[in-house]
Amino acid sequence: MQIHDTIDSMRTARAALSRVAFVPTMGNLHDGHLMLVHEAAAHADTVVASIFVNRLQFGGGEDFDRYPRTFDSDCDKLREAGVTHLFAPDESVMYPQPQTYHVDPAPAHADDLEGAARAGHFRGVATVVLKLFSIVQPDAAMFGKKDYQQLLMISAMVRQFALPIRIVACETVRAADGLALSSRNGYLSKRERAEAPRLYRSLLRVAEAVRHGERRFATLEADAIDALTGAGWMPDYVSVRNADDLGPPTEATRRLVVLGAARLGQTRLLDNIEI
Ligand code: PAJ
Repeated sequence: MQIHDTIDSMRTARAALSRVAFVPTMGNLHDGHLMLVHEAAAHADTVVASIFVNRLQFGGGEDFDRYPRTFDSDCDKLREAGVTHLFAPDESVMYPQPQTYHVDPAPAHADDLEGAARAGHFRGVATVVLKLFSIVQPDAAMFGKKDYQQLLMISAMVRQFALPIRIVACETVRAADGLALSSRNGYLSKRERAEAPRLYRSLLRVAEAVRHGERRFATLEADAIDALTGAGWMPDYVSVRNADDLGPPTEATRRLVVLGAARLGQTRLLDNIEI
């Protein structure tokens, strides 16, 4: 696996490659990330991954400083999974000057759900992903449904800027007890880890009720929030939405998704289930 820590090196390597599928990450890799790598291999001749903990998408008081950085073991996993090129810049390469040009996602993404809970988050994500796309020039890029709103936001950005990149949505990989794999799961104490699948189970309960014809979404959402709060969580939202654009569901909505985010102790977890 070639490791590129400068933009020039990545660009020179890319110029010699034909079809490239790209897996952008912030590292501390788990089986969810590796599933994206395997999907990528099915979409192109070459898989390029990136590892960059992007300060722009973290708010003040969030976990940028303590975000787990496990570069050597990440490289082993990527190499074993068949990645041949890794772009791993440090901040002086990605942001040699303060980034004063940004991509501002539509308010429907920027100010709703994750955007409402984490002001500026999607602006930071969109800006770094556009920059990574510009450097790696992939034909396809893999994103996990675990971050459902991020996936829709990136898809909309690619459409609106007519970027010649196919965005591929990959299923959420879970632990045996249902907890969605996440680099942040490592923050959980043993007791919190045992409690953590409650978020998935609460969303599952909402999804099952909707599948059985329940349409009082506000009641379902409030019940899920009460259950989480009662178990010691601090929920940001539980919300049933149109799965295609995350708008509020109407009579005409065909596909629904229930999304949730909540804090358990110091750890913020998010998850969703397509209905
Ligand atoms: P990160 O959290 O490292 O996630 C990288 C990719 O892995 C994202 O597309 C995410 O949705 C996917 N992923 C994470 N956990 C998953 C799981 N359990 N199952 C399936 N896919 C999963 O998301 C980011 O980094 C950043 O915002 C990034 C896009 C790299 C921009 O900085």
